[in-house]
Amino acid sequence: MTAILVLHGPNLNALGRRDRHHYGTLTLDEINRRIAERAEHLGVSVDCFQSNHEGALIDRLQESAGRIDGVVVNAGALTHYGLSLKDALTDAGVPVVEVHLSNIHAREEWRRRSVLADTALGQIAGLGWRGYTAALEALVGIIADEAG
Ligand code: DQA
Repeated sequence: MTAILVLHGPNLNALGRRDRHHYGTLTLDEINRRIAERAEHLGVSVDCFQSNHEGALIDRLQESAGRIDGVVVNAGALTHYGLSLKDALTDAGVPVVEVHLSNIHAREEWRRRSVLADTALGQIAGLGWRGYTAALEALVGIIADEAG
């Protein structure tokens, strides 16, 4: 069965309490439930992991080596400077889709640059929690296409 790792970076554990204008009202548990429901519908397995620590995200990626077919990642602010996470995503050797709840391109200048973007197949930003399920669906479709 196709296996997808969903990584959530720093501060995403506080969703629901954070700036609702940018990040919506759902908690991370509620978002993970919607991701799991979509995964079930698509017939794939999904593992959702959040950490406030870059090293823990890297550890999870390395532990998953050889057991995952793709990654959906919202790295939070690590998006903008997390070069160790970027290297780990590259080393994972599987397709990656980058997600942001908010439209990072319509916010402060420093949020507009993603150091992960050229590691990813593509990026979904500004669609709220739906970005995760859209990313999952696209990633699973692309993996199936590649498997031929
Ligand atoms: C975010 C955007 C980042 O700039 C920010 O640091 C976050 C969340 C988003 O989902 O919109 O923590 O990745």
